[in-house]
Amino acid sequence: MRYTITAALLYANGPAHIGHLAGCYIPADIYARYLRAKNHDVLFVSGSDEHGVPITIRAEKEGLTPQEVVDKYHTIIKKSFEEFGISFDIYSRTSKKIHYDTASDFFTTLNNRKKLVVQKSEQYYDTIRNKFLQDRYITGECPKCGNPNAYGDQCEKCGATLSPSELINPRSALSNATPIMKETSHWYLPLQDAEKWLKEWILETHQSDWKTNVYGQCKSWLEQGLQPRAVTRDLEWGVPVPLPNTDGKVLYVWFDAPIGYISATKDYFEQKNEPIDNYKKYWQDENTKLVHFIGKDNIVFHCIIFPTMLKAHGDFILPTNVPANEFLNLEGNKISTSRNWAVWLHEYLVDFPEKQDVLRYVLTANAPEQKDNDFTWKDFQTKNNNELVATLGNFINRAFVLSEKYTENKVPQLFDLEQVDVDLLKNLKEIPTKIENSIENYRFKEALNFYMELARIGNKYMQDNAPWQLAKDLEKNKNRIDTILHLSLQLVANLAILGEPFLPFTSQKINQLLNIEPQKWEKAGTITILSPEHSLQKATLLFAKIEDIEIQKQIDKLENSKKQNELENYTPENIKKEINFDDFSKIDIRIGTIKTAEKVAKTKKLLKLSIDIGTEIRTVVSGIAEHFLPENIIGQQVCLIVNLAPRAMQGIESQGMILMAEDADGKLKFVAPTEIVKNGVTVK
Ligand code: 2FM
Ligand code: ZN
Repeated sequence: MRYTITAALLYANGPAHIGHLAGCYIPADIYARYLRAKNHDVLFVSGSDEHGVPITIRAEKEGLTPQEVVDKYHTIIKKSFEEFGISFDIYSRTSKKIHYDTASDFFTTLNNRKKLVVQKSEQYYDTIRNKFLQDRYITGECPKCGNPNAYGDQCEKCGATLSPSELINPRSALSNATPIMKETSHWYLPLQDAEKWLKEWILETHQSDWKTNVYGQCKSWLEQGLQPRAVTRDLEWGVPVPLPNTDGKVLYVWFDAPIGYISATKDYFEQKNEPIDNYKKYWQDENTKLVHFIGKDNIVFHCIIFPTMLKAHGDFILPTNVPANEFLNLEGNKISTSRNWAVWLHEYLVDFPEKQDVLRYVLTANAPEQKDNDFTWKDFQTKNNNELVATLGNFINRAFVLSEKYTENKVPQLFDLEQVDVDLLKNLKEIPTKIENSIENYRFKEALNFYMELARIGNKYMQDNAPWQLAKDLEKNKNRIDTILHLSLQLVANLAILGEPFLPFTSQKINQLLNIEPQKWEKAGTITILSPEHSLQKATLLFAKIEDIEIQKQIDKLENSKKQNELENYTPENIKKEINFDDFSKIDIRIGTIKTAEKVAKTKKLLKLSIDIGTEIRTVVSGIAEHFLPENIIGQQVCLIVNLAPRAMQGIESQGMILMAEDADGKLKFVAPTEIVKNGVTVK
């Protein structure tokens, strides 16, 4: 069978992080590696998505041109994927000429075949910069929460999804000018015309073989009814619309990006100096299975819009499956490139060199296949220490160490089998089929679990048969020890074959230790991989324990980046309703000095202070205990509201309120005169 496997073209607007790996690249890689091992004809393509507003926004933020941005991140991302063993046949990019040509031809074909319609609309236009404004480039007041800096597509303060026309007092983010509405025309893909066949194709034929999360999203889109979708934009960055008099118009990024899979396939053959038309086998032959791996935010584009484009074009096959994953969160929060809340792949490898398989393991074991999942550093540590080290690594290590000890580092003979051995062989025979079935149904987590079951079985077999005990009477038990180690080593060889899709680096190391070439998948389930007398390499550990201190370092790093981000993205609160001078002058604020400070018993937040305000000493209970140590604030001058009605807190009467400034990261700072002044002085 021939397979074209695609993994989403990642926006080259930042480095790759664990969410990307878990969402699409690891499952796609497991699938591709597995199918290759089964001798299928596989082409696994991906690359950088280098157009669209995310790129231009990043360019502005970094003071670079869009091309410089994509050059920078394409290189970083490509390297990370290579380092994690994502086995693309090609990692292309959409700023290549071959892509411009492919995307332009695609558009032209649709247009010539009358599959697109032109429609006029009114859009915001910046008369100073002479540009139409994309939604992200319009800011204004959020109609929902009043945030003065909401974007035309979203308010980041309250999370509301917006359209530019909803913003109050819209402004151009480019010039700050008030934009005007101006007529423009665009090419649209009339999705509504495809509704009938899409319904039949997805809702009727793929109800049982597409994942429920994918099927469910498609169903809800189709039931709401489809609308024409613009496939061009008024922008400078992108593939120019290939028609006369369309200067300043480009193809919409979501039109050109999926075509990028086709361009990447052509790029592959071009780089191999093979006829470019070979790409047709992978895109136009009904015997090829096309499988798109993506994250859930891309479902509609891959299940509805791109198939509509492919079908309208007429020459292409449709996807067989689109096994989209849900999202991976990080320590309870959504991963975000712009907020720097992520574990970046290139940084991970600096802190955990050569531990690619540990991350691959944890992300597969914890994959967000049916629902969003959370990555936590503690769980990462637990899975490494308890599963990889204590189960898989331990079993393999024992097999080698004991062979070194009792069989001169050679594969021993197999003698008579006992019932435990027969049971072991039965399990060994069944597990490969279970793994195959799970992978073929895109249940990678389950597949990995079957794999680990084999390691657990091996571990238990070793423990139950304890060759080291038998070795106490070596002469009597030699044959039995040989049999146990023979079977254990064959099991290790099986773990190398079956583990390759999930833990490719580990499989390679196991093969090196076994002193054998990588074996064919057909061999899995058998005990004919190693022949007696075959020499082994000396044992080395495959996995090492990860200590608390390493984990704490990662948690601290995340906390710091969170604080840094809060400081950078701080937006001051809205200004309160106007008051008059009389209102203000009613407040009596005096300078005082803290004389004593102590924690209020049984509370986390409260300090009891005595403050000298010149004429008297006031007792004040203040919620600052998490920010200051009592002994450090004695002698500190403060501004105290002295005519606020007293309030009882934890049974103590608080006789005033200290003015504090709360910084963007939530830290409290005293508001105080810059030089010492007399206690009791009025603040006005
Ligand atoms: O979400 C993303 O990162 C998009 N760049 C995915 C595009 S997938 C495909 F269509 F190219
Ligand atoms: Zn809002």
